[in-house]
Amino acid sequence: MTTPIVRTLPKPGRRLAVLISGRGSNLRAILDAIRTGALNAEVGLVFSNRRQAKGLRTAKRYGVPTAVLSHRAFRNRRAYDARIVKLLREHRVDVVCLAGFMRIVSPVLLDAFPDRVLNIHPSLLPAFQGLDASCQALDYGVRIAGCTVHFVDETLDSGPVLLQAAVRVHDEDTHETLAQRILSVEHEIYPRAIGLLLDGGLRRHGRRVLLSGAAERAPADMPTESGRRPTHAR
Ligand code: GAR
Repeated sequence: MTTPIVRTLPKPGRRLAVLISGRGSNLRAILDAIRTGALNAEVGLVFSNRRQAKGLRTAKRYGVPTAVLSHRAFRNRRAYDARIVKLLREHRVDVVCLAGFMRIVSPVLLDAFPDRVLNIHPSLLPAFQGLDASCQALDYGVRIAGCTVHFVDETLDSGPVLLQAAVRVHDEDTHETLAQRILSVEHEIYPRAIGLLLDGGLRRHGRRVLLSGAAERAPADMPTESGRRPTHAR
């Protein structure tokens, strides 16, 4: 078996596009982190495949340009993604952050932004890929759930992991309370993971993303979310 070589990822520019399909709370966390100076970046475009995505209103409140294109108007995924790439280029985007963007992206977009497309998913991947990951985790009966920021590849929720954080599951948890606690941790790790990529020095060793060369060093593991219990359940 050949050992994969270690490859340093090129340091990208700091202009982001955030792709959403709905609520946009991760988008807001990214915009807030930029506003407070915790993340040194700018959002050049918020893109949605759904006109009614609530996050579009958030983008407008923060003064960020938005664009909406329904995939239904395109003959296939590649044609749709080619149009998105054109938009991203027009807005001089360096890094693409999927934040609740509920579509699989094709090689057309991935090849245009190599090692520069990130996604957040509400589980400790590779567990519980796909929809309703926190419900899947609760129903499976895991004691530790969590969330993952990963590089995107052509398969759903599967690319190399950049950061993960764990969230304890309590006996009193419902789908809603667990999803909410995971979401608050998502809001911490996504801006942080984006910062790690933008600061440069990340290395890839096969699927593994090595953080030790990153300009702003990150611990190998994020602390487990505090033992706070859901408030409404007794
Ligand atoms: C987030 O929980 C995100 O992790 C999840 O969608 C939600 C979007 O919330 N993404 C996935 O499940 C991707 N497979 P938001 O619109 O409030 O950021």
